[in-house]
Amino acid sequence: MGEQMKPIEIAKGIYWVGAIDWNIRDFHGYSTYQGTTYNSYLIMDKKITLIDTVKKEFADELLENISRIVDPKKIDCVISNHTEMDHSGGLPRVMHKIGEDKPLFCSRMGHKNLSHHFQEKWNYNPVEDGGEMNLGRRNLVFLETRMLHWPDSMFTYVKEDKLLFSSDAFGQHYAGLERFDDQMGEAIMPHALKYFANILLLYSPLILKLVDKVTEMGLSFNTICPDHGIIWRKDPGKIIKAYVEWSDQKPKKKAVVIYDTMWQSTKKMAEAIVAALGEEGVDAKPMNLRSCHRSDIMTEVIDAGAVIVGSPTLNNGLFPTVSDFLTYMKGLRPKNKIGAAFCSYGWSGEAMNLINKELEAMKFEIIDPGLKIQYVPDKEGLQACHELGKKIAQRISGL
Ligand SMILES: Cc1cc2nc3c(=O)[nH]c(=O)nc-3n(C[C@H](O)[C@H](O)[C@H](O)COP(=O)(O)O)c2cc1C
Ligand SMILES: [Fe+2]
Ligand SMILES: [Fe+2]
Repeated sequence: MGEQMKPIEIAKGIYWVGAIDWNIRDFHGYSTYQGTTYNSYLIMDKKITLIDTVKKEFADELLENISRIVDPKKIDCVISNHTEMDHSGGLPRVMHKIGEDKPLFCSRMGHKNLSHHFQEKWNYNPVEDGGEMNLGRRNLVFLETRMLHWPDSMFTYVKEDKLLFSSDAFGQHYAGLERFDDQMGEAIMPHALKYFANILLLYSPLILKLVDKVTEMGLSFNTICPDHGIIWRKDPGKIIKAYVEWSDQKPKKKAVVIYDTMWQSTKKMAEAIVAALGEEGVDAKPMNLRSCHRSDIMTEVIDAGAVIVGSPTLNNGLFPTVSDFLTYMKGLRPKNKIGAAFCSYGWSGEAMNLINKELEAMKFEIIDPGLKIQYVPDKEGLQACHELGKKIAQRISGL
């Protein structure tokens, strides 16, 4: 037996049997300073059912965990809510152990996507949106949640326990001994927000639609079990409410000044802009792209009223970290932002227009042509930064 966590009972006969990844620090380009968990769940019923697996490297740990409750060979079926490898990587090992002919339930897109990921002739049983399945004492309902956040994503709901297996939704990248919201309190919310800002933000309209659909269906939840982080059992309504609020993207009187610099000129500009914003009562901070990870910056961007981006001109272009960040932010489609650009340059100064173009493509409201200063900003230059900060502050002061 390994040194891993033991299974934990969530509701009568329903167990967390997942794995904790204490060491992961980069999850497909998202900084995970506190690791993550891959949550897998076992339902002990007439039909013994496993919901999702874990990352490939943790498959043995999952099987050992299951063995503490039941011989894995006795598992009757597996439900895959999501094809991404952090939940399906362990499937080949699990199917091999429990029996390759055991039924594997997934969405229709899940069938396609699992087939693309694994060249295996598993006993696929695609389910419909709203489809039901009886396990003996319990009944499951499947809810397709297409593009939340993959085409194959779905939720599985246990009617009798009012318990939702929500796949990646409502998750957090956090490795800890805590398994439940009541063991963490408010401390879990920044992790949930960061997860939302970096994985789900672009699907905000779909999230709002899904919440409406679930409300119309009259579903209520005692417990929400995501595939990462803690389980919401004390107050599942809290994370749903937070998702609605975050999806709305209502801007606050807050500005994020994102930049990089080679010889500190753009830095001086950034800090002067932040000082002016602060003087006007705006919650503002400079975020240097070589000190702050892109995923932490996105967590700040989500509720900011203004996003101000600065770059020196390097070889007629943007500084690479600025391009990186703009590409990343554009993909996540933040809404309701005012944007502005600033740039220190030497001779050609293309950076500013390149930033403006990107901010326009993101449908940010560009409230100033931007500020371009040759080499090191002098007193007048810093004054111009101050003016830009003030102008932005005035525009968002009503928020
Ligand atoms: C390797 C290198 C390439 C540069 N290429 C350009 C350029 O193509 N066009 C331009 O206007 N300035 C260029 N510059 C000048 C910088 O943009 C200028 O020094 C600016 O003040 C740097 O701002 P910073 O102190 O924020 O790094 C270059 C500087 C370096 C070091
Ligand atoms: Fe995922
Ligand atoms: Fe995931």
